[in-house]
Amino acid sequence: MRNDPLTENAIAYIRDLFAGNAGGHDAEHTLRVYQNALRISEHEPGCDRMTVILAALLHDADDHKLFHTDHNMNARVFLTANHVPDEQAKRVLAAINSVSFSRNQGRVPESLEGKIVQDADRLDAMGAIGIARTFAYGGEHGRALGDSVQHFHDKLLRLRDLMNTDTGKALAKERHAFLEAYLAELEKELGGTAQ
Ligand code: NI
Repeated sequence: MRNDPLTENAIAYIRDLFAGNAGGHDAEHTLRVYQNALRISEHEPGCDRMTVILAALLHDADDHKLFHTDHNMNARVFLTANHVPDEQAKRVLAAINSVSFSRNQGRVPESLEGKIVQDADRLDAMGAIGIARTFAYGGEHGRALGDSVQHFHDKLLRLRDLMNTDTGKALAKERHAFLEAYLAELEKELGGTAQ
């Protein structure tokens, strides 16, 4: 299925923006969040689908760990260049800012679109992908195996109970179960040395 031109432009824009970034927050992460968000939005008839799509694709475009931008500048540049109407651009930016922990201080997003994108982002930290990303990050930062395991307990295993939407909850349940099974096996193989 071909995407509409605005979606295609947003995908091209983030690929460009993240070029050369191999960390956990790369273009591939953004594309997975976009796919998760699409899936959740199918079961949320009340949402504005294009706002969900744009917020998902642009949610890390101004991540302060990667970019030194103020006021969502990278996202704004895209929305303006692509003539996204002001009202919709505002909704997209509000959704993006409600997803970011640093900007929203962990509050639940007000809009349905924000809730969907936050669930989609959290899902990408769970399951097989979450495990791969945690170890990739650990390797990059010279972190010991035990520290990565601690990260599963401190953060990833808590995500299931933070989901906003019913579809997000259902998907999170599967990924959580996989994480738990993986951890049980890992800890068995380590013989308790990681704790
Ligand atoms: Ni993200």
